[in-house]
Amino acid sequence: MASRIRIAIYGVGNCASSLIQGVAYYDRERRRNKNEEHLGLMHYWIGPYGPGDLQTVAAFDIDRRKVGKTLDKAIFAPPNCTKDILRPMPASKVKVQMAPVLDGVADHMKEYPVDQRFDPATRKPVNVAKVLKDSGVEILLNYLPVGSQKAAEHVAAACLESGVSLVNCIPVFLVSNPTWADRFAKRGIPCVGDDVKAQIGATILHRTLTRLFVERGASVDATYQLNVGGNTDFLNMLKRERLTSKKVSKTEAVQSQLPEPLPPDQVHIGPADFIPWVKDNKICFLRMEGRGFAGIPLNLEARLSVEDSPNSAGVTIDAVRCCMLARDRGIAGPLTSISGYTMKHPPQQFTDNEARQMVEEFILGRRER
Ligand SMILES: NC(=O)c1ccc[n+]([C@@H]2O[C@H](COP(=O)([O-])OP(=O)(O)OC[C@H]3O[C@@H](n4cnc5c(N)ncnc54)[C@H](O)[C@@H]3O)[C@@H](O)[C@H]2O)c1
Repeated sequence: MASRIRIAIYGVGNCASSLIQGVAYYDRERRRNKNEEHLGLMHYWIGPYGPGDLQTVAAFDIDRRKVGKTLDKAIFAPPNCTKDILRPMPASKVKVQMAPVLDGVADHMKEYPVDQRFDPATRKPVNVAKVLKDSGVEILLNYLPVGSQKAAEHVAAACLESGVSLVNCIPVFLVSNPTWADRFAKRGIPCVGDDVKAQIGATILHRTLTRLFVERGASVDATYQLNVGGNTDFLNMLKRERLTSKKVSKTEAVQSQLPEPLPPDQVHIGPADFIPWVKDNKICFLRMEGRGFAGIPLNLEARLSVEDSPNSAGVTIDAVRCCMLARDRGIAGPLTSISGYTMKHPPQQFTDNEARQMVEEFILGRRER
């Protein structure tokens, strides 16, 4: 019998919903069919941990439709709009607690219908560090909206205070920021981040195609990647001021795969618009222009359509389990291999093949971090 990993969810939005439903789905398959359902996973086992071994023991949000509800209900509350994986969910005793709002909610959201946007509750926020300690949390997953710098720093500080590991799924730079990384290392806590690189998402596709050009001797002279979606992540990102680190994260993820980065005016990568009716479906339009043999021009266009939130859960489930292995082994600070494999803005960039190899070695205990 494998051990369970005690996790906390910070931001009970679409990504959290898909992860929690997915964990319950794999757990049910194992119990029901007594076999391992590998579909959709990069690893079934990571050390002693199977995909059903993540146990949510605390959850935080600010939305009046989620705070005070048990987790099995809160994950389906609007404005969440991702596809159902397992509904109804097994009953949960965990109630969503009120977090400090800080900079989590963008002003422009008020102009949109309530079923499409956040609707903050007016309750008094809890002491996050105390709840983490009292609930015996081992790893916290940060799912705050893009641009929540203060709220993300607040939760990172709460992790440090309570000895909890951070898997930072968002583009606020913490694990890749040497000052924060050093704090986690000194406190003896492993961490993974920043900004999830989804399973079959725009970033991994763009990186892979970029490596293809490079490895086949072609140049990449110009490229764009435009993304649209209809969830609150896309609504939030309409506000350009909240996007600075998202753009850096997404652009560096692709630039890092080139021998020389492209000049800034030859590369454009980022969210393009919010289309409510497509809900959690994200559509990516990608173009690359380059030159092949004897400088002859070529170009490539791709369109990727994916359900955004299960796509992130498909890698977060490995990030959490590798983080737990590091806790079991007494390793502290940023984990380079799993961060390089599952995050867009890790402390150190590798090619995805290199990162995958390093993760396999880490899991087998042949690599420290
Ligand atoms: N889907 C992906 O593939 C993917 C990839 C990389 C990064 N991300 C990032 O993950 C994060 C979560 O994405 P999502 O689609 O679940 O977003 P979401 O908008 O569905 O969820 C965000 C949740 O945070 C809550 N929230 C807002 N302010 C808060 C605060 N101060 N404290 C606690 N909770 C607060 C909201 O009420 C909401 O429930 C986003 O930053 C997104 O950019 C997603």
